Amino acid sequence: MKTKLILVSALLVFTMYLNAQKYENLALTPPIGWNSWNKFAQNVDEKMIREIADAMVTTGMKDAGYEYIVIDDYWHGKRDTLGFIHPDKDRFPSGIKALADYIHSKGLKFGIYSCAGHETCGHQPGSRGFEYQDALMYAKWGVDYLKYDWCSTKYMNTKEAYPTMSKALKAAGRPIVFSLCEWGSSHPWEWAGEVGHLWRTTGDIYNCFDCVDDHGNWKAFGVLQIMEMNQKLRAFAGPGKWNDPDMLEVGNGMPANEARSHFSLWCMMASPLIAGNDLRAMDAETISILTNKDMIAVDQDSLGIQGFRFEVKDSVETWLKPLAKNAWALMYFNRSFSPKTIMVDWKNVQITDTLTRKVLNTTQKNIHLLRDLWQNKEIGNTKKPFKKTIPARDVVCLKVYRKD
Ligand code: GLA
Repeated sequence: MKTKLILVSALLVFTMYLNAQKYENLALTPPIGWNSWNKFAQNVDEKMIREIADAMVTTGMKDAGYEYIVIDDYWHGKRDTLGFIHPDKDRFPSGIKALADYIHSKGLKFGIYSCAGHETCGHQPGSRGFEYQDALMYAKWGVDYLKYDWCSTKYMNTKEAYPTMSKALKAAGRPIVFSLCEWGSSHPWEWAGEVGHLWRTTGDIYNCFDCVDDHGNWKAFGVLQIMEMNQKLRAFAGPGKWNDPDMLEVGNGMPANEARSHFSLWCMMASPLIAGNDLRAMDAETISILTNKDMIAVDQDSLGIQGFRFEVKDSVETWLKPLAKNAWALMYFNRSFSPKTIMVDWKNVQITDTLTRKVLNTTQKNIHLLRDLWQNKEIGNTKKPFKKTIPARDVVCLKVYRKD
């Protein structure tokens, strides 16, 4: 009887292993890096990508935690007679392997882009029918991350196409983070946890804080529009499976207050932090936002809990995110066009996160320490009320914690 039970359990474990599609133990915290699309679109070449990798190191972004350099659409050349894909020879004359080697030599990781359809969104060769060959090629080149798009997919089904590539990547034998990009159309948060490590939850981001760019048959969305869609999905995120509200627009022209709010919202939502600006030409303010280690630590917290909006009062949103060691991140986001003063009387704060059942309690005997995450300094404790004026469309972020 006992032997039978052991055999059945072993068979069960083996079947689970066979069915497991994605590489496990990857992206246990949200992926953090850079992608070419937001700033460069079709203008990608190996010289620029190398310079971006250099800049990621020299600007301190690597030290702040940024890891992946991802080339988006338009790196492609043609397939050879056997069907293997090659890069555009003029723009990538040294080949992708050499570029990946260079990026790895800087202590960074390398990502690439393809599409489940026969063409990418930029009409380059897609992976349809070539999934296993493409995965082999990526593994050979040293790819660590694949963003997989959803253009030219008429009559295709996301729940078949994405697992096909996921299995192909696994079969190719190299741990590759798999990023689904079907814009939330088939609710990937409900089924893609076993298939990939992150999934876009919305249409493309538009470089604007609060607007919609309507193209008729498709729309791009500003920061606030994306945030509203993404914040509803917190129950589905966690280590190895993240909601992806798209790449950052920090450094692409937004004023500092809006860029700070954008970055903070993404960190509070445990979003992938994929910079989308020209790292070679950043002003000091952009660098200080993108490399704010206190905010990055909120995003990268090991619990991997997506934060939530707790309340909205007089246009100020209060957001909370449970962190490891019973700490909490708090964000006060002033959505309005005028400064707002907030007053937090800690002796009345007792909040339960309905999803995780975690409790923030700073009443009487529960004195916590406070750190201002944008000033990067300790600001005392919860004995006294906290009062602060938040400029228009800006944030105040705090870490509320106890000594170890
Ligand atoms: C889609 C994706 C974008 C980008 C482009 C490239 O629109 O959502 O993020 O990858 O394709 O063509």
